[in-house]
Amino acid sequence: MAFFRGLFFLSNCVALYNAASVGDCPGYSASNVVTTDGGLTADLKLAGTACNVYGYDVDPLTLEVQYQTDTRLHVRIHDSAQQAYEVPEQVVPRPSQTGSSADASDLQFTYNTDPFTFAVTRKSSQETIFNTSFANLIFESQYLRLQTSLPDGPHLYGLGEHTDSFELPTEAYTRTLWSRDAYEIPPGTNLYGNHPIYFENRGGQTHGVFLLNSNGMDIKIDRGENGQFLEYNTIGGIIDLYFLAGPGPVDVAQQYSQVVGTPAMMPYWGLGFHQCRYGYRDVYEVAGVVSNYSEAGIPLETMWTDIDYMDARKVFTLDPDRYPLEKVRELVTYLHDHDQHYIVMVDPAVAYQNYTAFQNGVDQGIFLTNADGSVYQGVVWPGVTAFPDWFNPNTQAYWNGEFDSFFSADSGVDIDALWIDMNEASNFCTYPCDDPEGYAEANGFPPTPPDVRASSPIYLPGFPSDFQPSKRAPVTPIGLPNRDLLNPSYQIMNAAGALSNKTIDTDLIHAGSSPYAEYDTHNLYGTMMSSASRTAMLSRRPSLRPMIITRSTFAGAGRDVGHWLGDNAATWDDYRISIAEQIAFAGIYQVMMVGSDVCGYAMNTTENLCSRWAMLGAFSTFYRNHAEAGKMPQEFYNWPDSVAVAAKTAIDIRYRMLDYIYTAMHAQSVDGTPTLNPLWFLYPSDAGTYGIDTQFFFGDAVLVSPVIDEDATSVSIYLPDDVFYDWYTQAPVQGSGATIDLTSIGFTTIPLHIRGGTIIPLRSQSANTTTAVRNNGFTVLVAPGRDGNAAGSLYLDDGVSLQQGATSDITFSYTNGTFSMSGDMGYDMGDVGIDSVVVLGQTSEVKNANVQGKSVSGGDVKYNSTSGAVTVNVNKGLGAGFEVSIR
Ligand SMILES: *[C@@H]1O[C@H](CO)[C@@H](O)[C@H](O)[C@H]1NC(C)=O
Ligand SMILES: *[C@@H]1O[C@H](CO)[C@@H](O)[C@H](O)[C@H]1NC(C)=O
Ligand SMILES: *[C@@H]1O[C@H](CO)[C@@H](O)[C@H](O)[C@H]1NC(C)=O
Ligand SMILES: *[C@@H]1O[C@H](CO)[C@@H](O)[C@H](O)[C@H]1NC(C)=O
Ligand SMILES: *[C@@H]1O[C@H](CO)[C@@H](O)[C@H](O)[C@H]1NC(C)=O
Ligand SMILES: *[C@@H]1O[C@H](CO)[C@@H](O)[C@H](O)[C@H]1NC(C)=O
Ligand SMILES: *[C@@H]1O[C@H](CO)[C@@H](O)[C@H](O)[C@H]1NC(C)=O
Ligand SMILES: *[C@@H]1O[C@H](CO)[C@@H](O)[C@H](O)[C@H]1NC(C)=O
Repeated sequence: MAFFRGLFFLSNCVALYNAASVGDCPGYSASNVVTTDGGLTADLKLAGTACNVYGYDVDPLTLEVQYQTDTRLHVRIHDSAQQAYEVPEQVVPRPSQTGSSADASDLQFTYNTDPFTFAVTRKSSQETIFNTSFANLIFESQYLRLQTSLPDGPHLYGLGEHTDSFELPTEAYTRTLWSRDAYEIPPGTNLYGNHPIYFENRGGQTHGVFLLNSNGMDIKIDRGENGQFLEYNTIGGIIDLYFLAGPGPVDVAQQYSQVVGTPAMMPYWGLGFHQCRYGYRDVYEVAGVVSNYSEAGIPLETMWTDIDYMDARKVFTLDPDRYPLEKVRELVTYLHDHDQHYIVMVDPAVAYQNYTAFQNGVDQGIFLTNADGSVYQGVVWPGVTAFPDWFNPNTQAYWNGEFDSFFSADSGVDIDALWIDMNEASNFCTYPCDDPEGYAEANGFPPTPPDVRASSPIYLPGFPSDFQPSKRAPVTPIGLPNRDLLNPSYQIMNAAGALSNKTIDTDLIHAGSSPYAEYDTHNLYGTMMSSASRTAMLSRRPSLRPMIITRSTFAGAGRDVGHWLGDNAATWDDYRISIAEQIAFAGIYQVMMVGSDVCGYAMNTTENLCSRWAMLGAFSTFYRNHAEAGKMPQEFYNWPDSVAVAAKTAIDIRYRMLDYIYTAMHAQSVDGTPTLNPLWFLYPSDAGTYGIDTQFFFGDAVLVSPVIDEDATSVSIYLPDDVFYDWYTQAPVQGSGATIDLTSIGFTTIPLHIRGGTIIPLRSQSANTTTAVRNNGFTVLVAPGRDGNAAGSLYLDDGVSLQQGATSDITFSYTNGTFSMSGDMGYDMGDVGIDSVVVLGQTSEVKNANVQGKSVSGGDVKYNSTSGAVTVNVNKGLGAGFEVSIR
């Protein structure tokens, strides 16, 4: 039956191809609706003549609706035969399927039967958040369309990695999701990461909509004859939607983390300052950078090396002259002896040459292959390359093996964390890449020695004809039959042109018991490499939290990795847009470890830009200076009187705040509460915050408002109607939901405000490594809100172990003049405790305080009448029930 149907569709498709347009598509009608407490199911049958615009119309479909939690509704529409490709569970494990009911849920699903349309309403606010009634559902073999109407001028955020405004444009706007090696991260194009989730703020209440689909897609936001809409246009997969009710933006963030997973906790040292560049000539130059940072008194936590260390750019090799093993090992030992760390880059592409990593891959059969079983070839840095197939069941063992030997602590390069790149996957060779060797040669990539293994049939006189390299049996890929996996007729707006251009051919079929097509899984390549790399790092150091920074990501990648924002340029535009990108990754996509290439990767930086960026970068979760080969050096010490001073100042503040931000990251790793917040996440009802993307909250208490214009020394910043405190003077600043001008901001300072109502645990002093910071005591900064109260928290652990023993999870509160703390205090801090408690915003003089029932005064209670800050010296361990009262 299925066989005949397949044939029928094929002929149908050929006959009507190009004859119809999407406007002719008949939509579906619903029947056999079965409603239960937990949801409903229905059959969807094509409601007229198939339009067969982009492939053939799929009929029938099945609708499945589940009230998964009281705030999460799951809506799936798939082909009833269940042949269509779906994002594999191994890449995005699904959340549990049951739990709530139509009655209990705040979300309500309603539908029309003919044509079938549906709507989702938030009951508590009577707000319809999704309504598909204006356009027929289209579900074809290579094109799915679903449209929702929206209110005019919607406040939308998210939809994957881009360099457009954080609040998305609402007219004539297309977000294309298709991983791409996007040098200089141009706006309006598809970049490296794909996260089909958006948050919408409607009148102060926020909901989220996540389409779990990894196929190439265009998401269009525009106004049509029926008004404002958002429309998904995807070239495969199924409609697999998760609606998240909020109603607060932070609630939506937490609810999304329950779907795709919370981000991996990072090691404490990972929050230190990192230095990298492409083009360090040799290991001696790398050591020179370490030495120069130390001489300049700028804390360098981690030194990095780009592909320069490799022998002719081959992964898992060292250049014997420029990066000899014994010198690299000496460098790493030096770093470790100084509580510093080392990281190198690994690319997925393995040189197609006679060397161990390639031979091992061939022996274990883990490379992506062409239909005839030969190894698929592309061109990356070393010339002709092969690409690991992360779906192949043997690839993990291969990857672990290469890591165990090359990164061996005893005999190899003992890295502390990992950087993975080029995993879109990037392939320099343009499509069709018929002659990789010729392309590599013509474009100056290292030449390829003759192949060591025959990849196509060979004739050997005297041997039987089946004495041949093993061929792969023809496989039928997962997914709907009869698809054009190279040139689908619906063309997404991929800035690289054809789907397979500059990447792996999309008609390749992955190995494993479920033969997936690259067409469907392209967007997962970087995330699968991330997971495999995390496992490989754990295999070498099983007890330590892996830190991995990747370029390409898909929804849920944060479970395994952090992300740097790719190959930006040293421009003021890219400096500014780094803020929008970071709050999207940490706040929406649950990839909390994130940062840009500080001072800019491509193009020569300038002194003023690098000063400003050195300070802005100190308020990223991931803080790394990185530059391209051939451009001027931009290590901070190159400008002793400006950039170096700016960096030292900002690192000093960052390091004092390390435990505060580490606490925020721990919270996000537990429940998805964002570590970086756009203003509107904390002031969702203040429409003045909706468009702001050059200010943000580092944690939920520190408002960062950098100078944003070239060479300017002033900036207009928005302060919501709330009390803030200037970080530097500690004086209160009353916000009124308006813009204020800050002037005379020198090139070594960055405006920072503490939000009233918060308590921040600061280290009393910074230090030159994060290890040394941990020996310093705390100053607890209390910033009362307008109601006079404040709250905060502090999480402490050993900073590195995957499984922690005793930890501390402390809650601070300040009410009615009394500071107190409670919670678990299990982590042994030795002599380290609280040095002082500082309470801001006191309008009348405070002379006495009560510490644990004992009155203190004199030198232990200092009141600053200019700022209104009271400092009480307490010299106290981090014990339970500790109280300080200033009333
Ligand atoms: C969806 O939109 C249609 C067309 O405007 C409207 O008639 C219908 O009431 C809406 N559904 C809901 C649940 O708001
Ligand atoms: C380190 O500093 C010295 C002295 O200023 C300089 O000559 C050298 O180029 C610097 N090395 C690097 C790698 O920046
Ligand atoms: C940090 O300072 C200490 C004490 O001055 C010094 O011994 C150590 O080498 C410094 N570490 C680095 C990484 O500069
Ligand atoms: C491949 O490398 C091995 C080890 O260096 C060598 O013995 C062998 O001859 C090489 N094969 C070819 C075809 O170059
Ligand atoms: C592939 O990309 C190159 C440059 O990036 C472009 O010139 C070419 O037209 C593209 N080819 C296809 C088939 O899209
Ligand atoms: C960038 O700096 C490098 C090294 O200082 C120099 O060779 C190059 O000419 C500069 N490029 C531009 C465009 O100024
Ligand atoms: C009081 O605070 C002001 C800034 O608000 C500062 O300039 C001054 O030095 C402080 N006074 C003392 C004694 O710390
Ligand atoms: C606040 O503290 C004052 C003085 O200690 C006390 O009289 C008052 O009852 C307290 N108020 C509350 C709400 O605890």
